[in-house]
Amino acid sequence: MSKEKTLEDLFHDTLKDMYYAERKILKALPKMARAAQAPELKAAFEKHKEQTETHVERLQQVFELIGKRAQGKTCDAIEGIVAEGEEIMEEFKGTPALDAGLISSAQAVEHYEISRYGTLKTWAKTIGLKDAVSLLDATLKEEVVTDEDLTKIATAQANKKAA
Ligand SMILES: [Fe+2]
Ligand SMILES: [Fe+2]
Repeated sequence: MSKEKTLEDLFHDTLKDMYYAERKILKALPKMARAAQAPELKAAFEKHKEQTETHVERLQQVFELIGKRAQGKTCDAIEGIVAEGEEIMEEFKGTPALDAGLISSAQAVEHYEISRYGTLKTWAKTIGLKDAVSLLDATLKEEVVTDEDLTKIATAQANKKAA
């Protein structure tokens, strides 16, 4: 075990994980928007795609703050969550349960992001990266609101339609 690894290294590693994840999500969201049946859900995915572009940019800014090149590292967790979403899209295509399924996958993505950004923000605080805290917090807030919006769409219509 190397004794030289620090919280800074962990922060950098997790930043790379999220950089990979956000770019993966950026590719998945247009497919989800196309698949969504309800106009509200389509619009929610499209809106979040725009926000996700900003999330990628904010991560690039955080890389800059720590003097590292923006670089992704394969994130198995997001690969799995997105693959499950694709499976739902195929298996529930043309059924009344599709939107409820899409929402459930999207919320798994948001919860992953909320978990990661929460950790990154806490670590940035500990390390003393004030500007990184603000950037990470801005993204975290948007992930939380997106999750809440998806819950609203699910409870207002998608779940009933699927039942
Ligand atoms: Fe994001
Ligand atoms: Fe998100």
